[in-house]
Amino acid sequence: MSSFYNLAQNRRSTRKFTEEAISSAQLENLLHTVLMSPASKSSNPWEFVVVQNLKTIEQLASAKAHGSTLLKTAPLAIVVCADPQKSDVWVEDCSIASIYLQLAAEDLGLGSCWVQIRGREHESGILAADYIKKLLNIPAHIEIESIIAIGHKVESRPPFNPEKLLLERIHHEIF
Ligand SMILES: Cc1cc2nc3c(=O)[nH]c(=O)nc-3n(C[C@H](O)[C@H](O)[C@H](O)COP(=O)(O)O)c2cc1C
Repeated sequence: MSSFYNLAQNRRSTRKFTEEAISSAQLENLLHTVLMSPASKSSNPWEFVVVQNLKTIEQLASAKAHGSTLLKTAPLAIVVCADPQKSDVWVEDCSIASIYLQLAAEDLGLGSCWVQIRGREHESGILAADYIKKLLNIPAHIEIESIIAIGHKVESRPPFNPEKLLLERIHHEIF
């Protein structure tokens, strides 16, 4: 990528991945990048569960009734979670880490999609987070924000069209 602008313009959610695996160099790049995410007061409350076992990823795809099935074809799923005792703004810290992962993936020519977990149900009365905690042996006190699905894109989606940007949402000097 030639610039951050191009990176942002080309990052679109990918929901279908090829069978090609993520190389160890790509994985190392993603994991080193995410650990450079800024966090409030440098409290770094996050924890990341890197899942490459396809059977486990298949089970993660059932975390929610809607919106998690895209994980089915992903060769890599990274669960972004945090210890809320370490930061009162762990949601923000995890969100920044999640988008760092997505932008790092795009920088490597890979596709990605955010799967929202915090505040979502697995099925009536059961939180998606509790389903994942059980599956991945995540301690009860850890909160889960998202799962980032990453893999090789089946096809590239068109980049953002600058002519369609919501420029009316930008307010100069006063709202
Ligand atoms: C906080 C957040 C939660 C999201 N949750 C999901 C999700 O659970 N499932 C899904 O398929 N996409 C999810 N997405 C992806 C959005 O649907 C997508 O980013 C949006 O439609 C814009 O499309 P684009 O990413 O291709 O630009 C989420 C994105 C964000 C930022």
